[in-house]
Amino acid sequence: EKAFEALPRPPVVTVMGHVDHGKTSLLDKIRSARVASGEAGGITQHIGAYHVETPRGVITFLDTPGHEAFTAMRARGAKATDLVILVVAADDGVMPQTKEAIHHAKAANVPLVVAINKIDKPGANLDRVKQELVGEEVVPEEYGGDSPFVPVSAKTGEGIDSLLEQVLLQAEVLELTAPVESMAKGLVIEAKLDKGRGPVATVLVQSGTLKRGDVVLAGSTFGRVRAMLDEDGRAANEAGPSIPVEIQGLSDVPRAGDEFMVLGDERRAREIATFRAGKYRDVKLAKQQA
Ligand code: GTP
Ligand code: NA
Ligand code: MG
Repeated sequence: EKAFEALPRPPVVTVMGHVDHGKTSLLDKIRSARVASGEAGGITQHIGAYHVETPRGVITFLDTPGHEAFTAMRARGAKATDLVILVVAADDGVMPQTKEAIHHAKAANVPLVVAINKIDKPGANLDRVKQELVGEEVVPEEYGGDSPFVPVSAKTGEGIDSLLEQVLLQAEVLELTAPVESMAKGLVIEAKLDKGRGPVATVLVQSGTLKRGDVVLAGSTFGRVRAMLDEDGRAANEAGPSIPVEIQGLSDVPRAGDEFMVLGDERRAREIATFRAGKYRDVKLAKQQA
C-alpha cells in the first residue's frame, strides 16, 4: 500500500455538559448562528457537527445533548474527539451530566478545557464551580492542575476568544496529523432516513479526502456518494480530515458510531455490507430466540 504523507489537521472538539448549561448557545455565538433558539423545547436531541475558521486555525465542533436520556450520544461524541469543552453554568455548578461528561472524557483519555458559562448572570459563582470541579478531580491550571478554566458568556460573548485560544493551544500540544491524499476513512456521527433524499449520514472524515462519486462502506451499508452537503447545507465536492459532511447515496441508514471507509470497488463494498447486514440479522434472531 502506498504511504501518504501526514499533514497537520484541525482539532475535533466535543462540547459536553449538563442540560441547558449553554453548549449550543456557546457554539451559536462562536459561529454567529442561531441553532439554540430554533430547537423545539430548547433541548438538543442529536449531535451537531460544525467547523469554524478562526484567525488562528480551523476547529471542528461536535455539539452533544445534555439531557440525561442521551448518554450514548455523549459517549460517542467523546470517542470521536481530540478535546472536550466541558460547559458548566456558573449559576448552577456541577450537575449529574457534568459528572457524566467528565467520566466520558476520562474514559476516552481526552483532555478537557472547562468553559464556565453564564458569567453574566447575577447568580454566577466562579469559586463555587471551581471547588465543585476540583471535587471531581478536574483541577484548574492555577491550582496546579492541567485543565484550563475559562469564564465565558454565550450571551455577551465575553471570554469566547480566550476559550478558542485555549482550545487551539491544547490542540497544538497534541500535534494532530492525518494523511490528506488517501481514500477517506472516518465515523458516522448521525444518520437518518430522509423522505425526499433517502438515507443521509453526517460523517466525520478522520483521514484522507472524501469525494463526491466515491464508493463508501459504512457499517452494513454501502453506496456511491451522490451528493455532499456541508453543515450549512451548501453543496460540497470533497471533505478532508476533521471535516464533517452530510452524504447521500447509501443503500440503507448506517448506525451512528459506525466506521466508514472508501473502497475502490463497488462490488466489494456491496459484498462486505451484505455480509455484515446478514450477521446483524443473525445476532438479532438469536437474541429473539433466546
Ligand atoms: P441542551 O443541548 O438541551 O443540553 O442545552 P444546551 O446546553 O445546549 O443549552 P442552550 O444553549 O440550549 O441554552 C439553555 C438556556 O440558557 C437558553 O435559554 C439560553 O439562552 C441560556 N443561556 C445559554 N448561555 C447563556 C449565557 O451565557 N448567559 C445567559 N444569561 N443565558 C445563557
Ligand atoms: Na437546551
Ligand atoms: Mg444544546
